[in-house]
Amino acid sequence: MLNEKLVAAINDQIQFEYYSAFVYKAMQAYFEDEDLPGMANWMNIQFQEEMAHAEKMFNFVCDAGARVELKALDAPNNEYSSPLEVFEESLSHERQVTARINNLMDLAQQEKNHAAQIFLQWFVTEQVEEEASVNLIITKLKRIKDDGRGLMMIDQELASRTFTPIAAE
Ligand SMILES: [Fe+2]
Ligand SMILES: [Fe+2]
Repeated sequence: MLNEKLVAAINDQIQFEYYSAFVYKAMQAYFEDEDLPGMANWMNIQFQEEMAHAEKMFNFVCDAGARVELKALDAPNNEYSSPLEVFEESLSHERQVTARINNLMDLAQQEKNHAAQIFLQWFVTEQVEEEASVNLIITKLKRIKDDGRGLMMIDQELASRTFTPIAAE
């Protein structure tokens, strides 16, 4: 039920979801090193979410009777100079993902593949949430500027985030 073009494109996105997980794990490492455990936690949840996205796509390709092919991952950026810089990079990364998901949806529509379109809809919605949540953190970080107490408060807030597995359909 998936043609070659769609299998190749979804395989490519599976790869990118794993890369995203890698990017967030590197961001977690930065925050662990900076003694900001709440932000480190937030990035670790983000890592788990990206792994779950890859898994969801992996299962879709397998269920469609096609073959998943994995390649080597590029190294993520490991150098950051401030929490704001990390979250800004996170936002630009998520915008890239959104564009990729939209391209995938365009392809599914061109190929008139209804199952793929319905499958991808979940990711379209997810990206709206991804961008909004990072945007909110950036707004808060900009508001506190260099205030150490403000930073500690945001860190504490991000410590409470927990991972919610994707509901099975
Ligand atoms: Fe993702
Ligand atoms: Fe994401």
